Amino acid sequence: MKLSVIGCGYLGAVHAAAMTSLGHDVVGIDVDEAKIAKLSAGETPFFEPGLPEILSAGIASGRLSFSTDMADAADADVHFIAVGTPQRRDGAGADLRFVDSSVQSLLPHLKPGALVVGKSTVPVGTAARLAELVNPTGARLAWNPEFLREGFAVKDTIEPDRLVYGVATESKDQDTAILDEVYASAISSGTPRIVTDYATAELVKVAANSFLATKISFINAMAEIAEVTGADVTQLADAIGHDARIGRRFLNAGVGFGGGCLPKDIRAFAARAEELGRGESVAFLKQVDEINLRRRQRLVDLVVDSFDGRVFGRRVAVLGLAFKPDSDDIRDSPALDVAVRLKGLGAEVVSHDPEAIPNALRLHPQLTYADSVDQALEGAEAVVVVTEWKQYRELDAAATAAKVARPVVFDGRNVLHPGAWRAAGWTYTGMGR
Ligand code: UGA
Repeated sequence: MKLSVIGCGYLGAVHAAAMTSLGHDVVGIDVDEAKIAKLSAGETPFFEPGLPEILSAGIASGRLSFSTDMADAADADVHFIAVGTPQRRDGAGADLRFVDSSVQSLLPHLKPGALVVGKSTVPVGTAARLAELVNPTGARLAWNPEFLREGFAVKDTIEPDRLVYGVATESKDQDTAILDEVYASAISSGTPRIVTDYATAELVKVAANSFLATKISFINAMAEIAEVTGADVTQLADAIGHDARIGRRFLNAGVGFGGGCLPKDIRAFAARAEELGRGESVAFLKQVDEINLRRRQRLVDLVVDSFDGRVFGRRVAVLGLAFKPDSDDIRDSPALDVAVRLKGLGAEVVSHDPEAIPNALRLHPQLTYADSVDQALEGAEAVVVVTEWKQYRELDAAATAAKVARPVVFDGRNVLHPGAWRAAGWTYTGMGR
C-alpha cells in the first residue's frame, strides 16, 4: 500500500520504517528539515534498538523516503498522523497545535477515498472534530492509537499486542478492511483487534497509560509505607504479583515514572475529564502524579541525609540520565531530575549515561558529565543508580567499592542485590526495601 506518515518523531519515524519493512511504500513528512535530512541519510535522530537497521533497509529498498513537503504525501491511500501532543505550557492539557496544523496542511492533498489515521495520543473528542474537516474532502478519518514502548518500539510496531481501530459508523467495514490490509502481517498472526468508535479508541490509549502509571504509583505508595515499617517493597511486589489478577509487571518501585508519555498523558486526561464535567472520576490521577514526583525528592533526601544534611561540595556519582534504559530520551526523566536537584543543593554531581548525555547536555549544560562509569565513580562519596541500564545492574560490588572514596550506594531502581553490595562493604539504600 502507499502510506504517508506525518510527523517523524519517535512514533512517526519508527512507524514509517516499520511499515516499509512490512512491504508498504512509505513517505515520512516532517516540518523539521534537519530531522528529514538525517532520516533521508539513514540516520536515526534518537536511540532506539533495531531502528537503524530497518531504516537503512527501507531507504535502500527505494520504498521509504522522507520529505518536508506535504505535497509528497498526496499519492498515499492512507495517511498516519503521528505528531506529538506535548503538555501545554499554560496548563495540564494536551497541546494539539501539531495535530491541528498537520491535518490542516494535509487537507488540500487528500485523494477522495483516502483514509487519514490518527495515531497521536489525543484528548477524547479530537477525532470527531477532525473528521468534520476531513470528510468534506471526500476522504475519511480513523483513530488507531499506538502502544509502543521506547526501547521496544520496532517490535511493538511490527508485532503489537493488540490493534484498536476507532472508525466512523458509516464506513466501518470499508475502513476496517483498509487498516487490516495495512496490518495484514499482525492480523494473520492472530493479533487481537478491537473495532470501535472514535471516543473509545481515544480513551483506550489514555486509559492504558493511566492504568500503568497508577500501577507504578501504587507500588511506590507501598514503598513509602515500607520505609516507615521496615518492610521490603520488592518482596511485597513479588508476593502480590503472583496473583495473576494483579501481575508482577509494572510493579517496580523506585524513583518513579517519566518519559514523553505517562506523565503528560495522565495530566491531559485529568484536564479533559474536568472539561467534560467528570473531573472527580479521575481525580486519583492527581495523586498518582504526586506520589510519583515525591519519589524523586525522597531519593534526594536520602542522599543528603547520608551527608548529615550537608551535601554542598560533596561528590556524587549519578548513574543514569534517560527516563528508562535502552533509550536516550530525557523528557520528564526522574534520573535527570535527581541529578539537577542534587546539583541545585550544591553537590558536585558527576552524571553518566550510555546514550543520553548529548540530550542532557543540551538542556542542562551546568551538569558535569562523565565519559565512562569509572570516571563518574572516581572519588565519589555517594553513588546513585537512577536508570537501570544493564551495565549498572551488572556492576561488581567489590570492584566498584575500590573505585570510590566512600562506599555508599543508593539504588533508585531497586536493581542491585543488597546482600552482595553490603557484603562488599557498601552502605546500601534502596527505595522502600
Ligand atoms: C509508555 C507505555 O508503556 C506504552 O504502552 C505507550 O505506548 C507509551 O508510553 C506511549 O504512550 O507512547 P514508555 O513511555 O516507552 O511507554 O515507557 P514505559 O516502559 O511505560 O516506562 C515509563 C516509566 O515508568 C519509565 O520511567 C520507567 O522507568 C517507569 N517504570 C516502569 C517504573 O518506575 N516501574 C515499573 O515497574 C515500570
